[in-house]
Amino acid sequence: MDNIERQAHLSLARITPRLELEFAAHVGTPAWAAFTRRLRAHFDALFQPLVRLYGGHYDFFYHLESVVGMAARMWLARPARLRVRDDEREGAPEWFQSERMLGGVLYVDLFADTLDGVRAKIPYFKELGLTYLHLMPLFLAPAGANDGGYAVSDYRTVEPSLGTMDGLERLAEDLRANGISLVLDFVFNHTSDEHPWARRALAGDAEYRDYYYIFPDRTLPDQYQRTLRDIFPDARPGSFTYRPDIDAWVWTTFNSFQWDLNYGNPVVFARMAEEMLFLANRGAEILRLDAVAFAWKRAGTPCESLPEVHDLVRAFNAVARIAAPALLFKSEAIVHPDEVLSYISLDQCQLSYNPLLMALLWESLATRETRLLNISMRERSHIDPRCAWVNYVRSHDDIGWTFDDGDARRVGIDPVGHRQFLNAFYTGRFAGSFARGLPFQENPRTGDARISGTAASLAGLEQAVHDADPAEIELSVRRVLLLYGVALTIGGIPLIYLGDEVGALNDYSYHDDPAREDDSRWVHRPRTDWTGAARRDSPSTVEGRVYTGLARLIALRKGTLALADGALEIVETDNGHVFGYVRHHDEGRVLVLANFSEGAQTVAANTIRLYGLGYTFMDLMTDDIIALGEDGLVLAPYQLTCLAPGQ
Ligand code: GLC
Ligand code: GLC
Repeated sequence: MDNIERQAHLSLARITPRLELEFAAHVGTPAWAAFTRRLRAHFDALFQPLVRLYGGHYDFFYHLESVVGMAARMWLARPARLRVRDDEREGAPEWFQSERMLGGVLYVDLFADTLDGVRAKIPYFKELGLTYLHLMPLFLAPAGANDGGYAVSDYRTVEPSLGTMDGLERLAEDLRANGISLVLDFVFNHTSDEHPWARRALAGDAEYRDYYYIFPDRTLPDQYQRTLRDIFPDARPGSFTYRPDIDAWVWTTFNSFQWDLNYGNPVVFARMAEEMLFLANRGAEILRLDAVAFAWKRAGTPCESLPEVHDLVRAFNAVARIAAPALLFKSEAIVHPDEVLSYISLDQCQLSYNPLLMALLWESLATRETRLLNISMRERSHIDPRCAWVNYVRSHDDIGWTFDDGDARRVGIDPVGHRQFLNAFYTGRFAGSFARGLPFQENPRTGDARISGTAASLAGLEQAVHDADPAEIELSVRRVLLLYGVALTIGGIPLIYLGDEVGALNDYSYHDDPAREDDSRWVHRPRTDWTGAARRDSPSTVEGRVYTGLARLIALRKGTLALADGALEIVETDNGHVFGYVRHHDEGRVLVLANFSEGAQTVAANTIRLYGLGYTFMDLMTDDIIALGEDGLVLAPYQLTCLAPGQ
């Protein structure tokens, strides 16, 4: 046993009798036995990161003990049905690797007004095949601007216009009964400035001031600012906000009303861990760790993805393993691809958004070239096979052109010019572009910008419908299906941004809302058009074409083991317009070929043979058996095909 393990051991030995005293009424019960079993199993995983983060505090042991006591209390309060789920998930930790997994994400108010409204849409989720439903932040938040709910004023109260916490719990139950896991945000980097903690800090309570980063003058902010990146440079330059009411500067990475929490203070960790368990006890099975990269600050650094952030996530994860083991984390780190990878592990986040794939799908669509996508996926997407990517095409956020600059240069692309091109392309400033997007947070200083717009509008549907051009409508529908086709066949958990399944277009009405007008991301957060969605069954409508195409891809994914948890091999297709990969599985392999151009493309016969498919194969989309001729395989414009070896 090395020194730190011995310390952990001794600490646990010291805590145990004190816990047994505090929870004497429970000692001897099966629930208590389950708790202590997990505490013993995961104590080390909790202790080690906490020592690294807070070991220097004179009262470290007190903090450690209070975290464990809190975990015990929350475990004892955990509903029995969720404890059953805990056992199930521990028994089958690979549950989310299933080929049947399919995620959806929505805003409660925009989708169905209220939580009850969402509950009434369960048949719709089942029709789509969802097994995972992410409800965007639904907690109490300031009236007016609140960053789409990402400024939380109380983690235990649902925004009254949406429903109640009891209603959320019932919804979680109904979803679970229908095979759907509830996903919520854990907005743990910041609270709103109306959270009771912030209010007490504003009232001058020194204890609560220390929950945040509040500075009496600009000395430290200026020091920090030198190495920070602006997240909202256009709307909100700088990372600090002056509050005249306390004549002080507050750290606000995002908007001025989002106050960064001070995790340097161990009390903040303990209290947020309790909020986390509260959400788990209400039925959330996956928590999305919002803005995870920013949660620890150190002067002289960019204050993103510091080693301490990883320890923080490990500590939260250990608390979950002890007191709510069914709970998983999904990392929201929209940063350099290698940094994204650094959050993905069993002891941190078991799931992660895949922003690299997302951004490069759009990059390939604009360029009709797949070189950058190919090299990036080959080199920067490998993760622990017990973890999973969440593969998405669009989210509520902007698209930032993330890729490694070195990778770009290796395939002959100038990274700076390329990002400028992509921004021009997707904002319609590039002649001949099919896309209708908007710039988000253009930074005049650096020339950077990101892109807003719905999948369909970015893929050309808005323009095509406007021009009433049937050929362009057809191409745009194919583009949407191509991107979703990759997300559905490349492994991991595919995630649908609801609305995309019926080709929802941009909604410009945010221009008229003063709380939203300076944030173009609202353009791709339209209210669900249920009249349009009702046309999803008529194949002659645009909605019907997108929906039936997507439904076919979903059925394929759900019916093909190799598309779920198999190993991924990116292949050289010898055609720069075609992205290809093989999914390997004991049950058989599948070769996926995706044509990113509006022209027909040929993949050489040898390439297909090379990946082990032989001379005859089956097209899984059509069930046709195809004999491969010497001329190779011709892919129609924007066609995605899944091929399995024929008999
Ligand atoms: C996250 C959210 C984004 C929000 C930010 C601040 O990254 O996805 O919408 O603006 O964090 O919470
Ligand atoms: C940045 C942040 C990300 C956030 C986004 C909001 O990309 O890294 O966390 O979601 O900004 O636009």
